This record gives sequence, C-alpha cells and structure tokens, in this order.
Amino acid sequence: MEKILVIGSAGQIGSELVLALRKIYGNDNVFATDIKNPPQDVKKSGPFQILDVLDFKNLLHFIVRNKITQVYNLAAVLSGNAEKIPLQAWDINMKALMNTLEAARQSDAKKLFWPSSIAVFGPTTPRHNTPQLTVMEPNTVYGISKLAGERWGEYYFNRYGVDFRSVRYPGLISYKTEPGGGTTDYAVEIFYEAVRKGKYECFLKEDTALPMMFMEDAIDNTIKLMETGPENLSLRSAYNMAGISFTPEELAEEIKKLKPGFTVTYKPDFRQAIADTWPAGIDDSIAQRDWGLTTHYDIKKMTALMLEKVAEKLGKG
Ligand code: SER
Repeated sequence: MEKILVIGSAGQIGSELVLALRKIYGNDNVFATDIKNPPQDVKKSGPFQILDVLDFKNLLHFIVRNKITQVYNLAAVLSGNAEKIPLQAWDINMKALMNTLEAARQSDAKKLFWPSSIAVFGPTTPRHNTPQLTVMEPNTVYGISKLAGERWGEYYFNRYGVDFRSVRYPGLISYKTEPGGGTTDYAVEIFYEAVRKGKYECFLKEDTALPMMFMEDAIDNTIKLMETGPENLSLRSAYNMAGISFTPEELAEEIKKLKPGFTVTYKPDFRQAIADTWPAGIDDSIAQRDWGLTTHYDIKKMTALMLEKVAEKLGKG
C-alpha cells in the first residue's frame, strides 16, 4: 500500500497532482502539505497539513508517523523570483531538496520525485533539439540549483539507493493555480489578460521560442515516470521532457483565431535574458523510450481549453 506525500500542494503543479494521485491511490493515502493553504478541493478531498520542508525534524517525523513510501517535493522559488533573491533562493531550493533526499535515506520513503527544469541548460548549450547529454552551463540561480539538484539526486541513488526520479519540465501551462515568478509564465498570464482585457503586454520578445507543456500532460507523464519499473530507467538524473515549442507571437496568433481583436504588445524585461539562455526545443527521445513519455495537447488544443477554463474561472464563460 503506497502512502504518498506531496510537498508544495498549494502550487501550480501540486494543486493538480494531489487530485490526480488521490484518484489512483485513494484519497486517504495522499498527504498534501505546504506552507500555505491549498485550494479547497485539495484541502477537503484528503489529508492536508501545514508543513515546512525546510524543517528537517518535522519532515522526518511526518514521514515516519504516516508511513510514507513516496514523496513528491515540488517546493521551489522559480527562475525570475530567484534572480531577485539569489542567496535565499539557493538556500530554499537546495535545502528543500537535501531535506527530502536525507529523509528518504533515513526512512521508508525511498521513492522521491523532484522536478528539474529546462533551466539547467545555458547559453553554451545547443538551442535546438537540445540533447539529454550536452554542455550545461546555466547562468541563473534557479538553473544552477536545478543542475546541482540533479547531480545530488543521482548521487543519493548510487550511494544510498534512494529511488530518485526527475524530469526537466518545460514551461507548464495550466488554469487551476497560477505560477509565480517564472520566465515561462507569460504563456499562462496571456490567457487571463486575453479574457479580462482582450490585450496583453508580454515580458518576452515575440520571437522567443521556448518548450512548453499543458499541465494535464505534465501530470500524466510525471505519474508514468513514478510508476514505471526501476529496470526501465537508464537515467537517474533528470529526463528531458519537450512538449510543444512556440513563441509568444505564435501563441498570440492561436488565441486570435478564437478571440479576434486580441492584441499583444512586447516589452521585454529582465526575464528575456533568462529565456535567451534556454533551449527553443529539446529532444526527449530517451524518456519516450525508457518509460513511454507521450503528450496529447498541441498548441491549438491547449489554447482552446485554456481560453474556455480561464473564462469559466473569471466568471466570463
Ligand atoms: N517554468 C520555470 C520558470 O520559468 C522553469 O522551470 O522558472
């Protein structure tokens, strides 16, 4: 019987992952935690507790007391926000990971998911169809912390047998909980502004291509990776995960097809420099081969659903 702990259940990924896991493993077997309150459905459909992953003692107690067997650690400061508080972001992102790695080593919660990101790549990485194994010289705090985290995860697998699993998420697009402080967040904001105002000022240039993925695909694939037999995993760092690549201009065009009259202006800010160091598209053939990564949403299908759901959420459906 699996008992699963989700750290960061109030966030963009966690608030959807908890519900998906509860459907599979049963409401009572998926423990949601965060340092803030999650959406009502997360709070009401199963156990929720305020828990700070930076507090190692409490974390370990929680894991032992509840006989946790798997942990999803989604707590992180995203790329844009991390550049504003470099040392704190490093402390938070690394300590959160190290605490869950150590808790896994010291308990029965041996299976650990921790998200890496396309931010592990940098300005010297090949930008197109970026391979799994390539030059990696990230120059953002977030990217450095994610690359270091991948190395630590693999280390804990090799040295202590912690069943560490990870993917390099592309930008994640969703309507339930908004992301905060990421470089790819324009691709979420744009839908809210399209519905609210019919116009959007984008903080990236129109031709900045980045890899993106719709949340449902991201969740399905994350669970798939966690459920696959360990014999299928040829990698114990983090798998490239590509999804769909597009530019702000291409996304704006898709929105315009459904919302004629929608306009976008471009006013790049400091996040442009971050995006310029990330891949335009990545090669995820190893994930496809090892554990069957697949996606169902292209830009068209994703745009239609986002507009519909965001309109419903804002009471304009
Ligand atoms: N979406 C994240 C960000 O922009 C990248 O992992 O920070």
